[in-house]
Amino acid sequence: MEEMAAITSNLDLTNLPVDNPIDTNTLPLLTPNVHQIDNNTVSQHELQLSDFEVNWEARLTNTQLDQLVNDGWIIIDEVFENKALLALQAESGFIDYREAQLTAGVRISKIRGDKIRWITKDFFAGFYYLKSINELASVLNRALFAGIRHSEAHYACYPVGFGYQWHSDNPANRDERVISAVFYLNDEWTATDGGALEVIDNHGKSHNVMPVANRLVIFDSDLQHQVQIAHRQRYSIATWMRRDGLIPFVETAN
Ligand code: OGA
Ligand code: MN
Repeated sequence: MEEMAAITSNLDLTNLPVDNPIDTNTLPLLTPNVHQIDNNTVSQHELQLSDFEVNWEARLTNTQLDQLVNDGWIIIDEVFENKALLALQAESGFIDYREAQLTAGVRISKIRGDKIRWITKDFFAGFYYLKSINELASVLNRALFAGIRHSEAHYACYPVGFGYQWHSDNPANRDERVISAVFYLNDEWTATDGGALEVIDNHGKSHNVMPVANRLVIFDSDLQHQVQIAHRQRYSIATWMRRDGLIPFVETAN
């Protein structure tokens, strides 16, 4: 894994000139119905922060906190209520994704093939998701003295045939990212769909995590991990809890 040290994360990504809808022929997962509200549709206007409320304190058992410290990673399943999950899935299907880049500003699809969009307050569901993650960060600060000061997240879509090679989420000589958390959005994902997250834990042991809907995998940002090649479009939200203060995020206008 030595040769991978040169791979940086998207930490310094500030300029994304490429507007690249994921696939104009691919139907979104859900049709957000913002104008017409009936009993059967989840409307973005109806969506509230409370829909994303998670009792993180209760969800994180002492055993899990110990595992996070000792092994470096944990999984939490069935994170959100259905309404929040559906809203995140719908939003992920409508995003105008841009090519993910490495710090050098060149997209190297052999290393990472995901298309991304950073979450800002202009997103409905994504922004509530991020607020909920901040609550999780507070719990981690209280329980583990994690020292997290803010969180950042982007939606990601891996087109068929792409993954993300071995890397850590802190590029060489950086340590601002304390905890990485990836939330998955894929219904009915099976092993034959590929796209597993492979993490090397604190003991050097490798684990495969399937990117199934409503699952949050939480791991030490220094751990080495990779995304195996996806055979189906793979949707997720990559999230980082950071020890530095808020950094201004600049994204090129459409
Ligand atoms: C990342 C990453 C893992 C995943 O975006 O840095 O490692 O399972 N993602 O999507
Ligand atoms: Mn990563």
